[in-house]
Amino acid sequence: MKIAVVGTGYVGLVTGTCFADTGNTVTCIDIDESKINKLNAGEITIYEPGLEKLFLRNQREGRLKFTTHLAEGVENASLILLALPTPPGGDGAADLSAILKVADELGKIIKDYKVITDKSTVPVGTSEKVRSAIAKNYKGEFDVVANPEFLREGLAVEDFMKPDRVIVGTNSEKARKIISELYAPFVRQGNPVIFMDERSAELAKYAANSFLAVKITFMNEIANLCERFGADVDMIRRAIGSDDRIGKRFLFPGIGYGGSCFPKDVKALARSAKEVDYEFKILEATMQVNEKQKLALVPRIKKYFNDNLKEKKIAVWGLAFKPNTDDIREASALDMINALLIEGAEISAFDPEAMNNVKKQLGDKISYASQYEVIKDCDVLVIATEWSEFRTPDFEKMNSLMKNKAIFDGRNVYEPSKMKELGFYYESIGR
Ligand SMILES: NC(=O)c1ccc[n+]([C@@H]2O[C@H](COP(=O)([O-])OP(=O)(O)OC[C@H]3O[C@@H](n4cnc5c(N)ncnc54)[C@H](O)[C@@H]3O)[C@@H](O)[C@H]2O)c1
Repeated sequence: MKIAVVGTGYVGLVTGTCFADTGNTVTCIDIDESKINKLNAGEITIYEPGLEKLFLRNQREGRLKFTTHLAEGVENASLILLALPTPPGGDGAADLSAILKVADELGKIIKDYKVITDKSTVPVGTSEKVRSAIAKNYKGEFDVVANPEFLREGLAVEDFMKPDRVIVGTNSEKARKIISELYAPFVRQGNPVIFMDERSAELAKYAANSFLAVKITFMNEIANLCERFGADVDMIRRAIGSDDRIGKRFLFPGIGYGGSCFPKDVKALARSAKEVDYEFKILEATMQVNEKQKLALVPRIKKYFNDNLKEKKIAVWGLAFKPNTDDIREASALDMINALLIEGAEISAFDPEAMNNVKKQLGDKISYASQYEVIKDCDVLVIATEWSEFRTPDFEKMNSLMKNKAIFDGRNVYEPSKMKELGFYYESIGR
């Protein structure tokens, strides 16, 4: 199949590469010229485990191409996938300007039947808007399909290659056949491709992300209660997680959720609900709790230093919003760092993949070094992202490098009893 992917970010590049890997010919399009130049030169633009190898192989085989020209990119494609940004607008609603602009341009470009498939996360009714924007300029036959993407950054290739399910919103038999063929290689083990109406497909993605954000937030509130009651959130997690109805996943407390999806999707769903006169109270509460949770360690660190963080040397391990990605959008680490800087602290940070992105945002407001260099002579180490290399570090080396042996762990990476044994002052979340 000949495929065009419009938008070559986290979702677009993974989608394009994985579809190329099953033998399709894919052209990825982006307005960002420097990104396309890099990709054309064989340089990958995001960190995503397993992606680079597939990207290089499919590029070498001529199945994966990149361009900034929409018309050139979609010319021979029978399927056009939209993987465009839908950031929160001023009122929290998803900003559809990129999607509608591309839809408008597509109407002027396409000349024969195409399936336009929306992989971006979009509010209910967006497929209709895309259809109208195209139909303004193109009077021939085409279909718009809602096909929200569920991949997780850090596991994106795995998720894309073996999806738990594929959601497809369409009433068109013709589009249904094409999409079924497209996904057939990815669901050979029997995972479902669930067809439904487009409005349900659009809402399903928001429902999934919002549910997960609520689940994390619920656990964060239980952790906050544990601290007050003298209970251990790890025990609660194991106790409730072994109930099949609850499940073991997404029960790990910490310093809040971040990333490019949960915060904006919860906000957008709450906003969409308002538009149909419904107050989605759980989501409103989730957003409030999460904002506070992102800064949960700051008052505790302040208290530890008798309310004075001036010139305190704070080392931070982890900047990405979660491990195995270089994505720092809405990362809790950044909110916390900004709050600590306001208090007069000096921050030195390490992240295995995200430091370049943070440098672009924070510049020299903080310093950057390797995992062990940042803790040299520090007054406290703060853990903000649970990268696996933080789990069993060289504690002896840490002991000898840190001026003051205090660790504030926002991701519950260590066992409190072990840290005590090793001679560290240790605080974590809900234990
Ligand atoms: N990142 C994730 O984990 C994830 C997972 C599932 C769904 N989604 C959804 O997928 C969509 C894309 O997310 P992302 O993380 O890939 O975003 P991103 O910001 O990484 O990528 C978007 C790309 O689109 C490009 N772009 C913007 N306007 C354009 C235009 N007019 N023409 C061509 N290219 C244009 C940008 O330059 C950028 O490279 C969002 O709706 C998001 O909610 C994201």
